[in-house]
Amino acid sequence: MKKRIAIFASGSGSNAQKLMEHFKRSNDIEISLVLTNNADAYVLQRADNFEIPSHIFDKNEFYKTDEVIDLLKNLDIDFIVLAGFLWLIPKNLIAAYPGRIVNIHPAILPKFGGKGMYGDYVHNAVIAAGETEGGITIHYVDEHYDEGEYIYQAKYKIDRGDSLEMVKFKGQQLEHQHYPRIVEGLVKKIKK
Ligand code: GAR
Repeated sequence: MKKRIAIFASGSGSNAQKLMEHFKRSNDIEISLVLTNNADAYVLQRADNFEIPSHIFDKNEFYKTDEVIDLLKNLDIDFIVLAGFLWLIPKNLIAAYPGRIVNIHPAILPKFGGKGMYGDYVHNAVIAAGETEGGITIHYVDEHYDEGEYIYQAKYKIDRGDSLEMVKFKGQQLEHQHYPRIVEGLVKKIKK
């Protein structure tokens, strides 16, 4: 039986796209569900393109009920991948998937992490700080923003005068290159 991944995303979903492409060819792992808090998120279109079911939830459902957990369990989801998901994961969801939720962050944590640090806010902060290197962090998720145990980090060089678009592009290249294979390695190790 294939191991089943759910992706949580709030926006464009370019990382989700890479994960869907990567596992489309897999014999033992599949992306089984895409969840979002944002009904306008482009990731929903991407899921449709891959014929992967999706679910939209609101704050009440996510933080005040067990509906999302029930859905994940009913669909026999084994592992959760956050890909540009902007809400804090509630304790009951972490407890339901111990050691089975990972996130990707567009910086070398612990620098440039925490509440409100996502997407362009991170890249702008990296540029404003005059950093000569940017990077990515893939980490386990706990009940705090960007604080779970690190799994993998990679760096890229920031050249003097690099624009926001350039820094973002370099970071995205690294994310797309590494997230699917790191997730695959982790999911292979867990028991169904
Ligand atoms: C990614 O760069 C990801 O690292 C970041 O959001 C972007 C989503 O892009 N996540 C965070 O900042 C989490 N704090 P995508 O929708 O194109 O995959």
